Amino acid sequence: MRLVLVGPPGAGKGTQAQFIASHLSIPKISTGDIFRANVSGGTELGKLAKTYMDRGDLVPDEVTIAMVRGRLAEDDAQDGFLLDGFPRNVAQAEVLKKMLADLGSGLDLVLELVVDDDEVVRRLAGRRTCRSCGKVWHVDFDPPKKEGVCDACGGELFQRDDDREETIRHRLEVYQEQTSPLINFYADEGILRGVDATGPVEEVTGRAMGELRKFN
Ligand code: AP5
Ligand code: ZN
Repeated sequence: MRLVLVGPPGAGKGTQAQFIASHLSIPKISTGDIFRANVSGGTELGKLAKTYMDRGDLVPDEVTIAMVRGRLAEDDAQDGFLLDGFPRNVAQAEVLKKMLADLGSGLDLVLELVVDDDEVVRRLAGRRTCRSCGKVWHVDFDPPKKEGVCDACGGELFQRDDDREETIRHRLEVYQEQTSPLINFYADEGILRGVDATGPVEEVTGRAMGELRKFN
């Protein structure tokens, strides 16, 4: 299957993408994760992306699209993929459509994770990420046994630079202005499915998998 997950910052896209991709045995392709790996690796792409990410703005389309084009050309993405964080505006969606059409394919479904702004702020303000294995925790909703330490690998947990409250508010504005028009774009194509993203993680995964089963 060729899938896209869309939803505001902190809706749980990364959390759900991991479970859904593993249920379907398809690669999870997260543009945010790829940018962050480049930032940690000190690459030129990472240096450029960081200036936008720290402000909560979108990285320019030409940079993001070139990166996704390269990733989708890799062998493991030929029979399906789950995109998390891309497309992020209508221009990116148009390019993705053309890219897939040129290969004789297209998206099967777009899942929209629906959650309100207050919940987003709670989720992002409490998010902690493992510096060693990248696993994502939450200080209240999914706390590690020992504060600041990853249960999975013993690594140190840190807070993302863009998870400060004023940056979170700006990311929400960017979502409303630039990303939310994708909802109508994909609804018009008949491939949008809304998923209530509140409640426990496994319940959200269950709802998302329910939508995918209806499609099959
Ligand atoms: P990106 O990494 O994509 O950030 P985002 O969209 O803001 O999403 P987040 O990663 O913040 O949240 P999420 O929805 O994945 O939630 P998570 O599962 O972690 O992008 C970062 C930046 O990169 C952008 O600002 C931009 O600069 C750049 N970028 C990326 N893609 C781009 C593109 N296409 N074009 C241009 N620029 C781009 O969950 C959040 C927290 O909530 C966690 O702590 C988790 O444990 C907790 N949680 C999850 N589910 C639940 C639940 N059901 N109940 C309680 N807690 C939960
Ligand atoms: Zn870890």
